[in-house]
Amino acid sequence: MLELTYDYATCVRNSEKVAWRVDEVMPTSARLDFSRPFLPSGLTGSDKVPFLSPAEQLLLNHINGHAYINLFAFVEEYIVATAVNHAQAEMFGDHSAIRALVRFAEEEIKHQELFWRYLAAFERDFKHPCQVLGSAAAVAQVILSKSPMAVMMVTLHLEIMTQAHYTESIGPDSNVDPLFARLLKHHWIEECQHAKIDALELEKMLAVSGPEQVKKAFSDYLELIDAFDGLLDQQAAMDCDSLSGALARIFDADERAQIVQAQHQGYRRTFLVSGMVNKSFVKVLKGMDADGAASVAQKAKSLA
Ligand SMILES: [Fe+2]
Ligand SMILES: [Fe+2]
Repeated sequence: MLELTYDYATCVRNSEKVAWRVDEVMPTSARLDFSRPFLPSGLTGSDKVPFLSPAEQLLLNHINGHAYINLFAFVEEYIVATAVNHAQAEMFGDHSAIRALVRFAEEEIKHQELFWRYLAAFERDFKHPCQVLGSAAAVAQVILSKSPMAVMMVTLHLEIMTQAHYTESIGPDSNVDPLFARLLKHHWIEECQHAKIDALELEKMLAVSGPEQVKKAFSDYLELIDAFDGLLDQQAAMDCDSLSGALARIFDADERAQIVQAQHQGYRRTFLVSGMVNKSFVKVLKGMDADGAASVAQKAKSLA
């Protein structure tokens, strides 16, 4: 079992303590600072393309930052559906669990609103079109077709890594746009409760599952990681096209390959490896199944 040290009521209390309004984090009048990077070096591949000038790398960093926010808005679409489904399954049962799950869903929709506001401000002032992945509903359908335990594992993975994303963007040498850092911070302080709720839901599912179901959850999780990796590769290619358009410059095949490879690797680190190797995530996986946890560790190594 997972030996968790919190419960649903604690999550609700903490959620009430840290709750914020979209207007506080990003007023409609807020402007992005395009003179600074949006993503810290650890979360982007923009500074890993040596033939681009510093100004071009900065432009690519902005394109990555825009895609980062879009990707979160994108994946949170299915998380809203998952939280609502889990609240529905608990209806007339544990009131604290229902309340925690309903708040979770509401906060996730609020995050989407914050992200859309950021994306609108970016698109207004960046001046060049940026290509991003669409069809969030189709992706949500693919994810939700997997076993509920695997869906919850992916959700925990995504929510637990937001802390690392924020801590990477602060620090003495951080030069990132303070608005972007604020957005990552406020996202994380609510995701922190979501990750605990995910673990509580996983524990509940484990109590009524046999070893075969747990093994299936791990293989479904790894399949979703591969599917997500395919999307990240597509986003990396889109970033290259967006940069080419913004600079009015055609990259040859070798330059293009270098840009796409560096962006794909940056997204892998940010969205896949950073979740898979997170200590708290690994602890939950080990509590579920030691062999399964080892296969995830192996996969993380192959992606790093
Ligand atoms: Fe969120
Ligand atoms: Fe969340």
